[in-house]
Amino acid sequence: MITTDLSLAKSALHAGEIIAIPTETVYGLAGNAFSEQSVKKIFDLKKRPFYNPVIVHIKSPEVLTKVAAEIPPAAAKLAEAFWPGPLTLVLKKQPHISNLVTAGKPTVAVRMPNHPLTLRLLDQLDFPLAAPSANPFGSISPTTAAHVANYFKEKLGVVLDGGPCQRGIESTIVGFEDGKPILYRLGSVSVEELELVVGPLKHRTKDDAAPDAPGMLSRHYAPNTATCLTDDIEGLIAKNLDKKIGVLVFTRPMLNDAVLHLEVLSANGDDREAARNLYAAMHRLDQQNLDLIIAERFPEEGLGKSINDRLSRAIQK
Ligand code: TXA
Ligand code: MG
Repeated sequence: MITTDLSLAKSALHAGEIIAIPTETVYGLAGNAFSEQSVKKIFDLKKRPFYNPVIVHIKSPEVLTKVAAEIPPAAAKLAEAFWPGPLTLVLKKQPHISNLVTAGKPTVAVRMPNHPLTLRLLDQLDFPLAAPSANPFGSISPTTAAHVANYFKEKLGVVLDGGPCQRGIESTIVGFEDGKPILYRLGSVSVEELELVVGPLKHRTKDDAAPDAPGMLSRHYAPNTATCLTDDIEGLIAKNLDKKIGVLVFTRPMLNDAVLHLEVLSANGDDREAARNLYAAMHRLDQQNLDLIIAERFPEEGLGKSINDRLSRAIQK
């Protein structure tokens, strides 16, 4: 059921059930992070492989020490700068954090989300919430309560409705090696914003065999419809005139008759607005019975990098 009633959410969580929660990035599939049985239900419903650890959502920076055992100064600085907000920190875990949450790793991913309803919920709980994005493993992330309800139907008792997500792309993930921050996943905080706080940032290269953050798997966030990413929208349309084509662009209006469905992510070229609209546009495109989705590559700056990252994982190899 889609609801705004926090007491329903609370009682489901106390009963060990999982629910969907809104965050500023995407909706999450949440359960008591301190209960292995609840966390197991998240993996089952999402059909998520156990090698893929989940993020622990906390109500305030003060409770970070209940989850993480070591907080390097750079991590404290980042938390101070970006929490509540779309930044996840991967830190050495407290011993009591379940191996199910961390996929057996010695580290745990933590963030304080910035959504008023979810912060109110967290405030009323005496445990943090483990929550991956509320989509079946590998599919497009949900940015509305309706997206979540469509995915899981009656298998999910409570979908807490906090409206459309204001940021629209998952959190940026930063880990630490010898106290130095390393970018694990591009996301709603841009690299430029991070570097203003911690200086030049090393990036972890993509490694499918042993993904540090399986959000880095090369095929992820994927529509069912064949999708490609290009710098030459017109050229690719011309080559595919026999197909039912949908197009996703940043700003430029497309006037080609061959295009059956057009999504413009930000009419005035604002990367933040484009990020907010990205997944809803992909959901809509995927529902049009198209043969091919052609997406335009974004300028490689600011959130454009994060958008390109998600689009590049949505394409069929
Ligand atoms: O914005 C977000 O981060 C959303 C909302 C719901 O908070 N959550 C989200 O969760 O995107 P999920 O499960 O779709 O992605 C979490 C990512 C995965 O790529 C996972 O591998 C990585 O976080 N992760 C979790 N724990 C980790 C750890 N200990 N070390 C490295 N990566 C970790
Ligand atoms: Mg996800």
